[in-house]
Amino acid sequence: MTGKKILVVDADVASRNFIARTLQKEPHEIIQAGSGKEGLIIAWRDHPDLIIIEPNLPDLKGEDLASRLRADPRTARTPLVALSSDPTTQRMKSCRDAGFNEFIRKSGEAVSTLIEVIDRLFGSVPTRRQGGLLIVFLGGKGGMGTSSLCANLAMNVALNQPELRVAVADIVLPIGSIAPIVGYEGERNLVTVADLDPGDSTSHFFRDHLTLMTEWRFYLLAGAPDPEVANHLQVGRIQEIIRELRHAYDFVLVDLGRSLSRFAMQVIHQADLVALVIGTDASSVALTKTVLEYLRSRGMSDSTLYPILNRAIGLEGLSKPDVEKELGIEIKTAIPYLGSHFAMANNQHTPFAVKFPKDTAAVIFRECARQMVDTAKHQRSG
Ligand SMILES: Nc1ncnc2c1ncn2[C@@H]1O[C@H](COP(=O)(O)OP(=O)(O)OP(=O)(O)O)[C@@H](O)[C@H]1O
Ligand SMILES: [Mg+2]
Repeated sequence: MTGKKILVVDADVASRNFIARTLQKEPHEIIQAGSGKEGLIIAWRDHPDLIIIEPNLPDLKGEDLASRLRADPRTARTPLVALSSDPTTQRMKSCRDAGFNEFIRKSGEAVSTLIEVIDRLFGSVPTRRQGGLLIVFLGGKGGMGTSSLCANLAMNVALNQPELRVAVADIVLPIGSIAPIVGYEGERNLVTVADLDPGDSTSHFFRDHLTLMTEWRFYLLAGAPDPEVANHLQVGRIQEIIRELRHAYDFVLVDLGRSLSRFAMQVIHQADLVALVIGTDASSVALTKTVLEYLRSRGMSDSTLYPILNRAIGLEGLSKPDVEKELGIEIKTAIPYLGSHFAMANNQHTPFAVKFPKDTAAVIFRECARQMVDTAKHQRSG
């Protein structure tokens, strides 16, 4: 995105400075006004491309300010965003009626929502097309191999293109499981990183401070180590963290587990590819069907999906054609039942391809990783 001039109108100087600091990471010019009247004067004088207004202003109601901006030809078409400390639906409605394009409640998630809104208003290339390729792993049902596949496929992505840098981020709550799979015991994790000042968790930070899991060939941002710590996670920071990771790495693979929470959906919407891990038992297929319908209802195209059928629970279960018929999608990769081999490799913190290089599954993983990257690239260019 080329730099835009953004005016922030808010009587609270700390709040103004925080917004300015956050937005300045993009190449934007930020100007500030501490009152409604000052906002009007600056808006008409400096012609900002966007105005962010806290509707609770001491001298002039945000709604009145918006109406006056709308009534003047200099600012009639300028996008207006309300960033409101008053979270009520009533306030949202009065702001919309007054001519605000967007209404965002001040909360931990406000910054990431604001960045998304700005991207959308300026019709910039969507975030998903910026930076490294983002592949998220999502499971309809727990225990179907989502985390093991995320780690092992990430390893194979790195194996296929050793000159490129791969990061894995585990955002499964309340306990991440990539760290125990790959044998990471460091202190740094998603929660500690989300606690850093946004100015300190930049792409440079992620480039220099994630641990390279040597055998696995990727850099790890481990998940929450336990529920107690997870409860402190500032989920509003996740989107920003993923964005910075993508600036630092060629590939970012994210274990989402089975979450479709609001923050998970924000990550899913940015993804170049969603690896959907499906088990072969009837309940896994039924749950996946619900997930699929939800994703479709939220505007996700099937072409963004990379369905993986993983026979995690044993030899019995539905066949690939049956699953395809039931879900109305094409399975891209089918992974056979690997007996205790997968669990053994996991328990020894060793990539499957290193532990069992001659197993056909090692070949399947490698080919699957190649296909996923190709599909993700194709999605992005298309
Ligand atoms: N194809 C397979 N053959 C045999 N075992 C498998 C296969 N896929 C996964 N497993 C085993 O299934 C178990 C669960 O795997 P994993 O933890 O990756 O699943 P998950 O979907 O991430 O679970 P959770 O819901 O706990 O996050 C592990 O012991 C793993 O080794
Ligand atoms: Mg898991």
